[in-house]
Amino acid sequence: MSEPTRITVRGESSYDVLVGTGLTEDSASLARSVGPGAAKVAVVHPRSLRDIAEKVAAGFTAAGTQPHLMSVPDGEVAKDISVAADLWGQLGRAAFTRTDAVVGVGGGATTDLAGFVAATWLRGVAVVQVPTTLLGMVDAAVGGKTGINTAEGKNLVGAFHPPSGVVCDLDLLQSLPTDELASGMAEVVKVGFIADPRILDLVESDPLDAMDPRGPVLRELVERAVRVKAEVVSEDLADRGRREILNYGHTLGHAIERVEGYTWRHGAAVAVGMVYAAELARLAGRLDDATVERHRHVVRSVGLPTTYSAGHWPDLLEAMQVDKKARGSVLRFVVLDGLAQPGVLEAPDPSWLTAAYERVSA
Ligand SMILES: NC(=O)c1ccc[n+]([C@@H]2O[C@H](COP(=O)([O-])OP(=O)(O)OC[C@H]3O[C@@H](n4cnc5c(N)ncnc54)[C@H](O)[C@@H]3O)[C@@H](O)[C@H]2O)c1
Ligand SMILES: [Zn+2]
Repeated sequence: MSEPTRITVRGESSYDVLVGTGLTEDSASLARSVGPGAAKVAVVHPRSLRDIAEKVAAGFTAAGTQPHLMSVPDGEVAKDISVAADLWGQLGRAAFTRTDAVVGVGGGATTDLAGFVAATWLRGVAVVQVPTTLLGMVDAAVGGKTGINTAEGKNLVGAFHPPSGVVCDLDLLQSLPTDELASGMAEVVKVGFIADPRILDLVESDPLDAMDPRGPVLRELVERAVRVKAEVVSEDLADRGRREILNYGHTLGHAIERVEGYTWRHGAAVAVGMVYAAELARLAGRLDDATVERHRHVVRSVGLPTTYSAGHWPDLLEAMQVDKKARGSVLRFVVLDGLAQPGVLEAPDPSWLTAAYERVSA
């Protein structure tokens, strides 16, 4: 284990995100993240990640906190009220009190569920997130948004419930399939475009290195991406302003996910969405040609798509119209006025919407 990097998210109660290696076995890091007073922790994890959950549990045992392993279904299907209810039942039978805590071990689906159960149990107990995917580390586990899905849509029920700590152990990424790693890399690249272009330099100079969980480059990328997310959510926990920039590429991205019935990975959809947002910004006279092409270059270099099916445009437009209702009365896109200069494009000229889509359709 090397010394972890500590990134503080400020807010009503501040917390640290630790980034490093060997952290899952490190009882001191786990104990510090959960804070004093927890006699027991519920280690919520997908069945497929039992080995990792057992290591985390052993770390808590060594720190003098009693772990209860609680398994949930793998991936997105766990974000369901029936699974939350099962966990509430287990917490009740094990007599979890206000001072006990929940620990989420898994990808973003698991940490969203664990956070939601922690937010609702006894009106809120502490949660420590131990993300096991790149997307979880740089996005889902940081920032305090928790939630579950309903038949009507994704993330419609949830709560803002910041964790008391986040432990990002890069060793855990070694077993992550490459396409899941690439999906998380889309959010890293996103942060590169909206706030920290050094990320883009690192990815471009050696994409294979950048995707190697054993190497120093991925660690630096995770740290940089977490720093930006920490800074943005510190200013805007409740998602009323600055946090919107994190939605870069997500307006079209979410529409692609919906049209594909969520069979596309989130990062792949966001990748196409970023290229689309860049094309829109170019049409609006806000972004130069070279930066638009750089989107394609970086996105491709990490194995993510830059195009989507031409025939789906009417469905995508309709899906974006539905998405807009959640935000206000007009269609809004986060766009760039240059590298690390995010802004908003409201109610774009309909001809731009179509023209930009022609540039990303295959
Ligand atoms: N709360 C937020 O702010 C926020 C932000 C972004 C995304 N999210 C949510 O995150 C979810 C997506 O997260 P995700 O992409 O991590 O998906 P996921 O949690 O479904 O994990 C993807 C797959 O990888 C497997 N896996 C996880 N870790 C592994 C490991 N170390 N080794 C091998 N396999 C592993 C999982 O079992 C799963 O099958 C969505 O539900 C999304 O809504 C939340
Ligand atoms: Zn995203």
